[in-house]
Amino acid sequence: MDKVIDEKYVSETLRVMEHSGVFLVSGNNPPNLLTLGWGAFGKIWDKPVIVTPVRYTRYTYDLIDKYHEFTISVPRKDLSSALIRCDQISGRDVDKFKELNLHPTRAQMIDTYIVADCGLHLECRVLYKAGMEGFNIIDEKIKNQFYTTKNYHTMFFSEILAVYTTV
Ligand SMILES: Cc1cc2nc3c(=O)[nH]c(=O)nc-3n(C[C@H](O)[C@H](O)[C@H](O)COP(=O)(O)O)c2cc1C
Repeated sequence: MDKVIDEKYVSETLRVMEHSGVFLVSGNNPPNLLTLGWGAFGKIWDKPVIVTPVRYTRYTYDLIDKYHEFTISVPRKDLSSALIRCDQISGRDVDKFKELNLHPTRAQMIDTYIVADCGLHLECRVLYKAGMEGFNIIDEKIKNQFYTTKNYHTMFFSEILAVYTTV
């Protein structure tokens, strides 16, 4: 692996993702937020990689597809009401940072932002995307539980360029 991601940051991210969700930030004019509940870490193409499933109907999908980069900001204090509200509105209609009273700070390595109100941050660059196709879903239960409206996820496989803490 080019760089080793400290395991404690991987487990913290997965734990918070599972518990309440984390923020995924993409775009820059203005940057947009998505509440992310699912993701996987590993090594692919000899790089540290995060896989994030984003449904193609999200505004965030358009932004990641355009810029091929995003950050993940992990709350270290209770931001659950912002995470819930973030899910109910779209960056197509509102500036979510303003609406949620969250504060954007420039990312270090890419042309987007992190959430200053969070303590742990990952900067990511997309390497590969895999759009789900209904006929490729082997497990019928998954198809019936998550994709009855065919609003499939796209799996973005991204190199983790940087991991750091702020507060
Ligand atoms: C706890 C939680 C986890 C979520 N996880 C995901 C996810 O993994 N992928 C996804 O596409 N949407 C997920 N969503 C829904 C998006 O957060 C929501 O639709 C998004 O904020 C839409 O914003 P946008 O149109 O500005 O991109 C989740 C919502 C919640 C409440």
